[in-house]
Amino acid sequence: MSKPKVLLTGRIPGEVMARLAGVCDVEANTEDRPMDREKLIELIRDREGLISMITDGVDGKMMDAAPRLKMIANMAVGFNNIDLKAATARGIPVSNTPGVLTDATAELAFALLLAAARRIPEMDRKTRAGEFRWWAPMLFLGREVSGKTLGIIGLGRIGKAVARRARGFDMRVLYCNPARLDPAEERALRVEYADLRSLLREADFVSLHVPLTEATKHLIGAEELALMKPTSYLINTSRGPVVDEKALVQALRGRKIEGAGLDVYENEPALAPGLAELENVTLLPHVGSGTLETRVRMASLAVENLLAGLNGESPPNILNPEVLQAVYKNG
Ligand code: GLV
Repeated sequence: MSKPKVLLTGRIPGEVMARLAGVCDVEANTEDRPMDREKLIELIRDREGLISMITDGVDGKMMDAAPRLKMIANMAVGFNNIDLKAATARGIPVSNTPGVLTDATAELAFALLLAAARRIPEMDRKTRAGEFRWWAPMLFLGREVSGKTLGIIGLGRIGKAVARRARGFDMRVLYCNPARLDPAEERALRVEYADLRSLLREADFVSLHVPLTEATKHLIGAEELALMKPTSYLINTSRGPVVDEKALVQALRGRKIEGAGLDVYENEPALAPGLAELENVTLLPHVGSGTLETRVRMASLAVENLLAGLNGESPPNILNPEVLQAVYKNG
């Protein structure tokens, strides 16, 4: 039997690539840069499976260019880059990679929180530049994290992993989520429910862990930033458009908030004008899940989902199970 034809749009760890290539005929991007959209549309024409990256905008046009496409496995937990409705309308299952990147992303959120509070990148720059000339009690001061209030917006898998880490710093944790946890889980996690405005007013650190949807686009804009304490910090490891980046630049410049730690941007990889010039913001290149261990797990899970879909089975992380029900019902 001939191997199913698959398009893989990003370079993945060698061990996972070898496994995939053993069972599929793979057309793969071998470079560490996103595949050009036109090229992707050209290469997908005869493909039955697609392993996509967050940098690929997988829309109806792309799906229509691939009449044999049977499965889209996104190598990410976020799937705002895929037009899920368009895939469902065409009966194509779509999957993501939840669970395997929770710890890595929570670690990075905490790294950004600590970096922002203790001004680590700024201090590193100053030390290298020879500005550490002597020790003095009032020099190079940051803010303490221990005992402060952390506000988590979006208490899903990653938000909860951040809450667990906050315990190690004796933080009070507030959370805001569309669905409130049951009281037993709140107690176990040691988190307190708050509405968005109260959370923004009370938190010393606000960390974002929501998916990007129509409802969360610009969830944090000028009005929300104005509610935050002037001594507080905003941490974003979710998706850039959740924050109005221009409004954030204004807030940081005017010291309406003390600082920010960002891993994601509204128009990646571009930064909002003025953002890179600010000293009170730590900027990372979208590396929340960027550990080798996690990338191996994400690639493996994407392959597992892909193969299940290609075999006509239910992919473990299917996002649109209704397409399978339709297949079963229509025999
Ligand atoms: C990365 O941003 C992901 O959604 O997995």
